Amino acid sequence: MNLYDKLVEYGKDNYYPMHMPGHKRNPEFSMVNPYSIDITEIEGFDNLHHAEGILLEGMERAAKLYHSKYTNYLIGGSTAGLLTAIAAATKKGDKVLVARNCHKAVYHGIYLNELQPIYIYPQIDTHFNINGGISPEKTEELLIKHKDIKLIIITSPTYEGVVSDIPSISSIAHKYKVPLLVDEAHGAHLGFHPGFPRNSIQAGADMVIHSLHKTLPAFTQTGLIHVNSDLVDYEEIKRYLGIYQTSSPSYLLMAGIDNCINLLMDRSKELFSQYYELLQNFYGRMKALKNIKVLFPDNIKNYGFYEFDPSKITISTKNTDISGTMLYDILLNEYKIQMEMVTRDYVLGMTSICDTKEGFHRLSKALLEIDKQIHSKPKSIIKHLTVNQEVPEMVMTSSKADTCLQETIPFRFSEGRISGEYIYLYPPGIPLLVPGERISKELLKDILSYQTEGLQLQGLQDMKGQYIKVIL
Ligand SMILES: Cc1ncc(COP(=O)(O)O)c(C=O)c1O
Repeated sequence: MNLYDKLVEYGKDNYYPMHMPGHKRNPEFSMVNPYSIDITEIEGFDNLHHAEGILLEGMERAAKLYHSKYTNYLIGGSTAGLLTAIAAATKKGDKVLVARNCHKAVYHGIYLNELQPIYIYPQIDTHFNINGGISPEKTEELLIKHKDIKLIIITSPTYEGVVSDIPSISSIAHKYKVPLLVDEAHGAHLGFHPGFPRNSIQAGADMVIHSLHKTLPAFTQTGLIHVNSDLVDYEEIKRYLGIYQTSSPSYLLMAGIDNCINLLMDRSKELFSQYYELLQNFYGRMKALKNIKVLFPDNIKNYGFYEFDPSKITISTKNTDISGTMLYDILLNEYKIQMEMVTRDYVLGMTSICDTKEGFHRLSKALLEIDKQIHSKPKSIIKHLTVNQEVPEMVMTSSKADTCLQETIPFRFSEGRISGEYIYLYPPGIPLLVPGERISKELLKDILSYQTEGLQLQGLQDMKGQYIKVIL
């Protein structure tokens, strides 16, 4: 069966999407026949790369909605926005302060611009084994220590919804006259209702990147880049958008962005109030769980988070006799609920203003039923993952590592060598190793033990994790 037929057939089935895109395939938010509005840069329809008409007006509306000085459409997702923002705010070889849990697009931006990263690690929450926020105090310490840092890059919210203290981090950044770039790919829906955190534009960041498709009704690949400060040259942003984005941006996708912005302008109050009520009912029902644990937004102070986005539903099986993968499979096969992500210990659901009462009800009913059929695990046999937070020795930048001759060797014999590849542990999604970093004895031991435990390692070209490329 080809992709088109498979998608059409899937769309007719009754699977409920607890995943992105945020439109949730809900017909209430759909558009006309896609072919009827798919054009190119014809008379009267402007040009994204030299916008002066209808597209400029749309982007100005988006800027007004988010209270940003300038906003541009992204057709190429947050990835295009991050590559653009990093290139525009730095010069080749600059030093940048980077949260180690940033998405790979940030690492690619660092690589392409031959930047020298100084890493800041997020706190780790041991209740759910997820990344916490970035500490403003640590940010300031590193800015004092490295006076030549030219840009700060932070991800907030995280995939699981943890929001960092952006107001404090941005005022620290500005004290040292360093621009703050927030990868808010997962937070385009923030700032429209008091039950959700403020967005990073409201919180003072200089550049903010949004994936509209993740949490709002918009097509996959659509996003926004916001520039809200004189510390960043907007002309450079436009220049790099011309480099990193296609020269044929889809009018269908741009019309989808326009629709999404207009919907928020006209109906955000009503839609977010209904949505928040559905979320509150859902979390309320989850209080009856005995074995499965849900990350409750009203408990975040216990976990030490600054703020939390309630749209993300993190469901932990850590203290039970089933794994995250088993829960994911039961939800999919027995309840026809497709979740966004699964790890050894938890399952993640993504929700949006397009979710229905029926969708929330199906998930809560499923979890309550499953919870009754499983057991809690005695505390003594619950393994806690302690992720090594030692910063590996950076012998060279990732861009320099790429220019060196490399060889492939068995991973278990790689002690002391300089890596030519990334290794991630998912979760929490922090690279344990970046190209150019030395593989220490301790790190090798830790990674081998993660492998023995069956944890998911990503990044190596050898998917089985037996071999690694190292610098000769
Ligand atoms: C934190 C974060 N930043 C950036 C991206 C890239 O976003 P996009 O897929 O819109 O390019 C992702 C994608 O999952 C992400 O999770």
